Amino acid sequence: MKIVIVGPGAIGCLFAAFLTRAKREEVWLLDKNKERAARINQNGVSLEGVSGIWTARVRVSSETKEIGEADLVLVCVKSYDTKQAIERAKPLVGEDTSVLTLQNGIGNTEILGEALGQDKVIGAVTSQGATLLGDGRIRHAGKGETVVGRMDGKIPVQIRSIRELFNKAGLETRISRDIKGVLWSKLIINAGINALTAITRLNNGKLVELEGTRRILREAVTEAARVAKRKRIKLIYDDPLAKVEAVCEATAANLSSMLQDVLRKRHTEIDFINGVIVRQAQELGIAAPVNSLLTDLVKTIEASYDLRNEESGSS
Ligand code: PAF
Repeated sequence: MKIVIVGPGAIGCLFAAFLTRAKREEVWLLDKNKERAARINQNGVSLEGVSGIWTARVRVSSETKEIGEADLVLVCVKSYDTKQAIERAKPLVGEDTSVLTLQNGIGNTEILGEALGQDKVIGAVTSQGATLLGDGRIRHAGKGETVVGRMDGKIPVQIRSIRELFNKAGLETRISRDIKGVLWSKLIINAGINALTAITRLNNGKLVELEGTRRILREAVTEAARVAKRKRIKLIYDDPLAKVEAVCEATAANLSSMLQDVLRKRHTEIDFINGVIVRQAQELGIAAPVNSLLTDLVKTIEASYDLRNEESGSS
């Protein structure tokens, strides 16, 4: 089986390294940046953290021509890049290719479905924790399960093979018949944590320790859960507030992915997280003022990276 991972971010590198180390399949990493691709190709992908310190000699290319048609494509770019990334990756996708999205937020399965046909698309949510330390260098911060499934709930043989492939490579994986519920369950966690950490620059644990952020988090989660309920989405936990607070505690020292983006003055995934709650609430005719405020604040931060007054005043 030929597997191509698109995007050399933290999760892309993690999956590329584990799948390469398993030595069972032909594994490639596709990186749009030619120089970086050459560097990672030469040095490999290095990991430190819960799986030890090791390097995998991952094959990396910036050219789809060099790779050819794949059996499985894992999309690991930031959500705002999905559309462009899949246009570039189209030569990898043949009649029998499956395309699995390992991204945050809601909307990626739809974007991929529009570009390739919904039958090829597999949704996924991973609880693997990884932080990018540099080009091809990551910290494997925590092991967690990956859940895969098709939006229509069908479980074709390709999905079973992916589960087997990931599990044999050491990436614990299960199949869900309701991946939409799993995606929304993760969305609500991200809606409660990510924007608030990006705005306050606090780590996840502090959000529930401090009274003000705890109150805002609760409002954001309550609004998001209300939208999910109105859409009849079945969450994988009973109590969204308790779940999000528990995730804050379990990942207390983490800098959320959105806070990492803001610290690097990067584009964030706000449109695919709190922005989704705002848009869906509007469609349903219900209010989501806290998610709307969080979305506007993060967009303002993104639009003003170079305008910020960082120095303290003298008088
Ligand atoms: O996006 C993230 O950072 C993670 O999904 C989570 C669960 C919020 C932990 O930091």
